[in-house]
Amino acid sequence: MAKGKRIMITGGAGFIGSNIANALCASNTVMILDNMHSGSVDNVEESKKLGAEFFKGDSGSIASTHFDPDVIFHLGIYSSTPMYRSNHKLVASVVSDAIGVFDFAAERGIPVVFASSSSIYNGHSGLHHEGLVPKVTDYYTEARIAVERLAELYASMSGLDATALRQFSIYGPHDEKKGIFGNLITQFMLSMGRGEQPVIYGDGTQARDFTYVSDVMDAYTMAAKLKGFNLLNVGRGESYTINQMIEKLNEKLGTEIQPKYIQNPLKNYVDRTEADTSKAEKVMGFRAKVNLEEGINKLYDYLLESGQLGTAAVQKNTEDKSGEAR
Ligand SMILES: NC(=O)c1ccc[n+]([C@@H]2O[C@H](COP(=O)([O-])OP(=O)(O)OC[C@H]3O[C@@H](n4cnc5c(N)ncnc54)[C@H](O)[C@@H]3O)[C@@H](O)[C@H]2O)c1
Repeated sequence: MAKGKRIMITGGAGFIGSNIANALCASNTVMILDNMHSGSVDNVEESKKLGAEFFKGDSGSIASTHFDPDVIFHLGIYSSTPMYRSNHKLVASVVSDAIGVFDFAAERGIPVVFASSSSIYNGHSGLHHEGLVPKVTDYYTEARIAVERLAELYASMSGLDATALRQFSIYGPHDEKKGIFGNLITQFMLSMGRGEQPVIYGDGTQARDFTYVSDVMDAYTMAAKLKGFNLLNVGRGESYTINQMIEKLNEKLGTEIQPKYIQNPLKNYVDRTEADTSKAEKVMGFRAKVNLEEGINKLYDYLLESGQLGTAAVQKNTEDKSGEAR
């Protein structure tokens, strides 16, 4: 992305949005709009120190910021399925916010790149490509499909440049602030670091396409240049079972913790996600760079340096270092 741009990030106090804000604010003017529903105060403070401005409000109130952006990254959308399970009226807010953002952008000719989700592929097996017809099984997914369809409508009726990024299981720094809504890699690294058994729904053979947050950030900046309406997968393009992921965490943490398997309490639980990213590669040259081992290493270093890893992992790290010294 060219430098010296004015960038609006809705949801910029959240996990992904704050990573984007922190990376871009050194060479651009960044405004964060967030209603702090699941955003973290720490993330905002960090971004503000790095130069970002902050406005508290719903994404749909974008005009109230009086910020005049060159591009909008719209991630300020309620971010987890359970939130909608307890309040399905969030679907209406998500659509209303999207209309606010798209109206604002279309009137001013500003491109919008927005967060969509791999959950749209729930119920489909095999490699997930953008041409699959969604089978809606929950309110969270319905909200994402509605926003994608609205974006396509604005593109055809008002000439809006809008790109939906269907993101696959993202993890990385600041994900830990999401607590139980965070990625399993983050949750398990923290719990296993404390010496606790990770709790797994079913037998652990379910698989996820785990994607490191810096790759997602790249996708947003690449998509900012696209014209018209685009629907693109953003994933690593390879899947690991939860059992395999736990094995890698044990290796990294130097632990031998066995998972605790329990009966799956969730309906519509997804068995496997795996992104076909060939369209994103063709349209904007996107290809995820960080593999699972590298991503786990980066997250480990971040959690260790920020003092968030428990004693089991810290002890291992100290032993490793003393081993190196000898
Ligand atoms: N993390 C993932 O694996 C993943 C996967 C697919 C899609 N997504 C989507 O990406 C986006 C960012 O996710 P995240 O993981 O950073 O989650 P997050 O909860 O950390 O970030 C979402 C941010 O948006 C804010 N927000 C929510 N609703 C808002 C509203 N109406 N107005 C203004 N701000 C609002 C929250 O306070 C929070 O700061 C979300 O839309 C999420 O659904 C995330």
